[in-house]
Amino acid sequence: MAKLKTHFVCQECGGESAQWSGKCFECGAWNSLVEFKEAKLPKNSKSSSKMSSGEVPSIQSLNSFTHENFSKRVSSFFPEVDRVLGGGFLWNSLLLVGGIPGIGKSTLLLQIVGRLSKSYKCLIVSGEESGLQVADRAKRLGLDLDSIQFLSTNNLEEAESLIQNYEPDFIVVDSVQTLATSTLESSAGTISQIREITQKFLEIAKSRKCIVVMVGHVTKDGSLAGPKLLEHMVDAVFYFESLHEGALRILRTQKNRFGSANESAVFEMSEDGLVEVLNPSEQFLSERQRGVSGTSVAALVDGTRCFLVEIQALVQRCFQGFPRRTFQGIDQNRVALLLAVLEKYGIDFSNYDVYVKVAAGGRIEEAAADLAIAAALASARLDKSIPEDVLLLGEVSLTGGIRSVQHLDIRSKEASRMGFKKIIVSESGNSKKISVPMGAQVLKIKNIAQLKDQLWAKSYSTVNKEVGA
Ligand code: TYD
Ligand code: MG
Repeated sequence: MAKLKTHFVCQECGGESAQWSGKCFECGAWNSLVEFKEAKLPKNSKSSSKMSSGEVPSIQSLNSFTHENFSKRVSSFFPEVDRVLGGGFLWNSLLLVGGIPGIGKSTLLLQIVGRLSKSYKCLIVSGEESGLQVADRAKRLGLDLDSIQFLSTNNLEEAESLIQNYEPDFIVVDSVQTLATSTLESSAGTISQIREITQKFLEIAKSRKCIVVMVGHVTKDGSLAGPKLLEHMVDAVFYFESLHEGALRILRTQKNRFGSANESAVFEMSEDGLVEVLNPSEQFLSERQRGVSGTSVAALVDGTRCFLVEIQALVQRCFQGFPRRTFQGIDQNRVALLLAVLEKYGIDFSNYDVYVKVAAGGRIEEAAADLAIAAALASARLDKSIPEDVLLLGEVSLTGGIRSVQHLDIRSKEASRMGFKKIIVSESGNSKKISVPMGAQVLKIKNIAQLKDQLWAKSYSTVNKEVGA
């Protein structure tokens, strides 16, 4: 029986400690340390920390590594995925796609393989699904089953030897938590196993001309060691998450050695698999009612993408008990703060039920949406509609002052693209960063009192400043 060495590893950052503690010494996360017993490698087993290519390393000029065929990026044939990748896949790279189970990681990669396999030798190594299941899904997605090669195994050594013989250009490993090496006694999904699997696929990606994409599940309860522990080992990490409740998904870059670490792409899970959403704002605003009170539009930034979302507020007289405060997709403390500020500026909510939600199941986490939320609340309470071409960008301080927000350029560009003609911002903001087309207006306000004037004064003319680009 091999001797076990025990230590504790943080599920958040991978930091190690000889003793258990409630808080990770490295990253400060609470309750993230789990006991980890690492079995010694059985005798005769090869440690995979050595490169297996068998080549003797030598010192060469960088120029000798450039090769036209290698330096060209490989398109995924999904323009949005290519953008997130930084222009396509790069040869010899190891990528990790993380996300909660059922979010659509396998579907996305199967669709990419479906398109890539027309030009490249692609192999899916799955420890999760059988060939029958994957074939059934591929058929439903309308993919060419003949060109996609599939291997169902949980054994790393088996996968490695078959990969050596088949020599694929593009390998999907689904998932890193379901493969195990027989050189370790621990079971699949443990920290030692997922590190070993990653190390092996890193060697494969670097030692032969191929691209490897590994799937890593993220579990909220930490029952599986997650992709976070592997982030430093791989070339790029992407997370696939739900953007809004429902079918929208977002692919976000967490780390990318070969491109921007601040990119994202939106998809919709449909009956025909994942479909790229080129214009998320249009989708979020598509069912907006015009000319009614209690609705406003905010611009949210995610990475380098901007989404316009509709905020809806309903304010009704409360006839008994305490007034209700019901919020969906917005932090209740944020709305409570805005209600208090509006009260201070003479808009009374004390005997009114207040309901606020983000349309289309959206979520707001940015303070940049404060002004839009405050405007929707005031609009609902005063029963006055906000002109449909007005977009509000600003953080509201406790004094009622309006503070400027970051990424004014990205937000105003998206607003202009979506046809908004009046952008209300903080007076302190840098208007040079605001890009609006000819004829559009940037309206600057100092505080909540001016918000009322701007929205519902008879004319916009007095304090408006026209900006042309
Ligand atoms: P999957 O790719 O298996 O998720 P993951 O690999 O991240 O665990 O996604 C499974 C979900 O996607 C499942 O709930 C069904 C749904 N789905 C569709 O809605 N349409 C489709 O065409 C496909 C293939 C899956
Ligand atoms: Mg899967």
